[in-house]
Amino acid sequence: MRTIPIIDQRHLKPELANAIASGDPIGQLLDGYDRPLHDLRISVTDRCNFRCTYCMPKEVFNASYSYLPHASLLSFEEITRLARQFVARGVKKIRLTGGEPLLRKHLEVLIEQLAALRTPAGEAVEITLTTNGALLARQARSLKDAGLNRITVSLDGLDDQLFRRINDVDFPVSGVLAGLEAASKAGFSNTKVNMVVKRGCNEQEILPMARYFQGSGTILRLIEYMDVGASNGWCIDEVLPSAEIVKRVHEVMPLVALTPSVPGETAERWGYVGADGQYDPKLGEIGVISSVTNPFCGGCNRARISTEGKLFLCLFATDGHDLRGLMRKPGASTDAQLQAQIVKVWQARTDRYSEMRTAELFTDRISSARRVEMSYIGG
Ligand code: GTP
Ligand code: 5AD
Ligand code: SF4
Ligand code: SF4
Repeated sequence: MRTIPIIDQRHLKPELANAIASGDPIGQLLDGYDRPLHDLRISVTDRCNFRCTYCMPKEVFNASYSYLPHASLLSFEEITRLARQFVARGVKKIRLTGGEPLLRKHLEVLIEQLAALRTPAGEAVEITLTTNGALLARQARSLKDAGLNRITVSLDGLDDQLFRRINDVDFPVSGVLAGLEAASKAGFSNTKVNMVVKRGCNEQEILPMARYFQGSGTILRLIEYMDVGASNGWCIDEVLPSAEIVKRVHEVMPLVALTPSVPGETAERWGYVGADGQYDPKLGEIGVISSVTNPFCGGCNRARISTEGKLFLCLFATDGHDLRGLMRKPGASTDAQLQAQIVKVWQARTDRYSEMRTAELFTDRISSARRVEMSYIGG
């Protein structure tokens, strides 16, 4: 993979360079399409204990696959140092991802460090985590105690045979449900469950999943299968459009559109309707994530740091900006210099892959550039 050299900070406007050097707030940091920097997603490992057929197929991620050596991974201190610079420049939510983040040893130590960060206004940062749930029952309590705010668990269906086939390591549904229960007992609320829907694979699980989570306090989100990475052999025929997903749920469990809860949200929200025909908060809501049929690049406020410390500006990027190198090189960058690079890179950002892909779907010209894997950059 090619690494983009970080832009020379001597080209920063003098007032910006001075503000950064003095640690002054510089107002809201906007990219080339006026999108603010708000979310930071950090991949803490490129390994996973599942082999989901659409993400880490066994034919590719087998014994001969080269994962990153431990020395290449950012240390917890490096992650926290970088996160601190992002928070100083506008980040308000951090999501830990992988691979499977709970495979990273002593993750709770990192969470404690991140939970202590404060925005320039003195507020805590929301710390969240995406997990496949397999190790959650064991770790939920210590994650909560460390200061993790919220959890999202991936689960692609309730049919045990089907789920074991999808994760391809024979892991049972009951193990994930036990993780969800442990999370709730440990005090986590507003937990979300992410289900990737693949037409012809698990679409029959939409209704059972909707029924199971209705009124449970856990928000089910149904995700259009995306052409992320280069290993999953994605094909448009396997995408079940969100509009169709909503229609199928609405036919048996009536729904009403809800307004976005935060700007730049990935999911469209739909609330269940009660006996009076109005949204009933007790029944809860579902979300649909339409990255293929209705891309949300216009509000994309997410930066990603890969396991080895490269800054990616898009889930579909082919190249990252090497921040680890800046921290490890002889005469390493100061915090102010790191911030300057983050500012410069974000200001130059013009990524909007999903919107372009969706336009290209109608012209058959989908870019074939080699993209990074989701297990490396984090979902
Ligand atoms: P919440 O804070 O719970 O709203 O999290 P989130 O929706 O920002 O993050 P989550 O990791 O739960 O995202 C759910 C799914 O949306 C991911 O698994 C991806 O499939 C997809 N997704 C998330 N971020 C992006 C993005 O920036 N671009 C695209 N195309 N898809 C994304
Ligand atoms: N399309 C959509 N979502 C995906 N995920 C992984 N691969 C894909 C894909 N091709 C989701 C997982 C999980 C998160 C880490 O990313 O289901 O919720
Ligand atoms: Fe499955 Fe998530 Fe692991 Fe990918 S990272 S193989 S989607 S559990
Ligand atoms: Fe953001 Fe890229 Fe996803 Fe568009 S495709 S929403 S720019 S990460």
